[in-house]
Amino acid sequence: MCGIIGVTGVDDPLRMLLDGLALLEYRGYDSAGVALITADRPGDGSAPVDGAEAQSAIDRHHSIWRERAAVRAQSIPELERLAPTAPAARAGIGHTRWATHGPPTESNAHPHLDCTGRVAIVHNGIIENHREIAAKLDAAGHQRTSATDSEVVAHLIEDELETGATLLEAVRRCAGVLRGDFALAVVYAGEPDTLVATRRTSPLIVGRTDSVGVVSSDIAAVLGTTRDLYALEDGEIAQVRPGSITVIDAAGQAVEPLAIRVSWGVQAAQRDGYEDFMSKEIHEQPRALTDTLIGRILPEGTTELEELAFTEDELKAIDRVIVIACGSSYHAGAIGALALEAWARIPATAEIASEFRYRDPVLDERTLVVAISQSGETVDTYHGLREAKRCGAKTMVISNVVDSLMAREADGVLYTRAGPEVGVASTKCHLSQIILFQVFALHLGQLRGTLDPHEAAAIGTQISGLPGLVARALDRSDDYEAVADELAEVNDVFFLGRNIGYPIALEGALKLKELAYVRAEAYAAGEMKHGPISLIDRNAVAVVIATRGPLWEKLLANVEELRARGATVVAVADEGDEETARLVDMVLPVPAVDALLSPVVAVVPLQILAYSVARARGNDVDRPRNLAKVVTVE
Ligand code: M6R
Repeated sequence: MCGIIGVTGVDDPLRMLLDGLALLEYRGYDSAGVALITADRPGDGSAPVDGAEAQSAIDRHHSIWRERAAVRAQSIPELERLAPTAPAARAGIGHTRWATHGPPTESNAHPHLDCTGRVAIVHNGIIENHREIAAKLDAAGHQRTSATDSEVVAHLIEDELETGATLLEAVRRCAGVLRGDFALAVVYAGEPDTLVATRRTSPLIVGRTDSVGVVSSDIAAVLGTTRDLYALEDGEIAQVRPGSITVIDAAGQAVEPLAIRVSWGVQAAQRDGYEDFMSKEIHEQPRALTDTLIGRILPEGTTELEELAFTEDELKAIDRVIVIACGSSYHAGAIGALALEAWARIPATAEIASEFRYRDPVLDERTLVVAISQSGETVDTYHGLREAKRCGAKTMVISNVVDSLMAREADGVLYTRAGPEVGVASTKCHLSQIILFQVFALHLGQLRGTLDPHEAAAIGTQISGLPGLVARALDRSDDYEAVADELAEVNDVFFLGRNIGYPIALEGALKLKELAYVRAEAYAAGEMKHGPISLIDRNAVAVVIATRGPLWEKLLANVEELRARGATVVAVADEGDEETARLVDMVLPVPAVDALLSPVVAVVPLQILAYSVARARGNDVDRPRNLAKVVTVE
């Protein structure tokens, strides 16, 4: 979940590192740090590395300057204050941390150094065998200064360099002894213009211009420098120098790096005048949905999903679909599975990826496993996908990041086109995942003949109208904010829904929890009587998903039960639905639409509710406490 950046061949690497870290901060904001290879004699930044004399000159004239700060969400401004005093340099690495091993203190912040202070490393992931390695390093006399799993890497590289290995070779050998998931960027004062990077599971990209080289965990952080970018594959090691990239595999053989296609520009990752990324991204939703639909639904309702890369026969042969995902993506999957069963009549379920991975699932080549992941990097979903492949299932990914880790792993891929999502809470990507899955369900329904052409055309037309309905819901933001004002002090909220309303309730509860730090639990409304209703009294607040679908009347019966016990009830209800409005205390009105499509509009007021309550409580909506945008550790 940490952010990594490295640059070589520039006059002011610190500036680039700090700007890059600001863009990476959403990945983790417990602490941040930078290390520069300082050229003590101006102009020495790219001295040669061959020959004993040259090497000794390098040793005399290069060293590592490192600064770290551990002020939650404020470490980068802390580092900015040091910028004017930074020494001359041409290369460096930076890191923004989401703490796993060791608390978020300055001594645990990256970069970490070896004993000589001439090697600096930054790491994302978890080194699972770090205790075992640390014990050996300690016994050999290494001095470790942090409680992290990461620091061992610097000391292992130190040992390899002492044998006379180049930095590239030292990192290759070091990676060979590491267990777990990692992305690493390393600099060494003995090779002052070189960055070495490697990865296993955790993603890492490298890039170049004619005179510059970059390493990053994220495209956004280096897009302002170059679009000539390459994704490292598992186990590959890259040596990045000004204007050049050399990649070897774990066995030391040269390999061609995989070029990355970048579909958006630097501007897309900026705030564009909004107070925070989250409100920008909420308001971008109509456009994100429109872009995701372009070319995929034709006027008569037929679907076009050519990029899926499965033949019609392969798709027709599928007899079961399992969706795996985490968090909001899981909720999108649960919504998609219901549409798939209804329209394509295929048994479909959604499972939490971290559970699926370890339950030894029974799958075969007629099972399609669909992994949904905005980032395409979430480690639980990624490993679930690999497990599905191992068991012989067909695999497909719905991702927002072109050529992401999962997109490269799966048999087929569908991309949402939401643009970069920076706010930690997923909004526009969540809705884009839902709408894209709906298109996929419609596609399969047509292919399998379970929808007749009229039904398919009607569904296609309604899907095409969803971006406009989301815009209409956003126009009612004042109504939603008024409800948020009423709930600003509440500490416990139930979210209830039935059928398609249940995953909507799950999403509403997750948003309120993660942003406003309010205890919020979602239940299938019919399940309340089996236990949770004993929690209901005059102090209880329930948000019910009461848009008009087949179970609307049953849901209203559940509302009566809540009211009879004194609860305050807020309903997400169709605009103009007076009957529902009369029964509840407050309404979050949304445009009416067919039940299976309703999540795309019904989630909008719940996003704004959570956003507004969080703001009223003074919370940082883009960087909620303890969270990171991309979860790359288990
Ligand atoms: O990148 P992914 O879609 O795989 O991320 C999955 C979850 O980590 C993510 O949806 C998370 O739950 C968000 N914080 C929800 O707002």
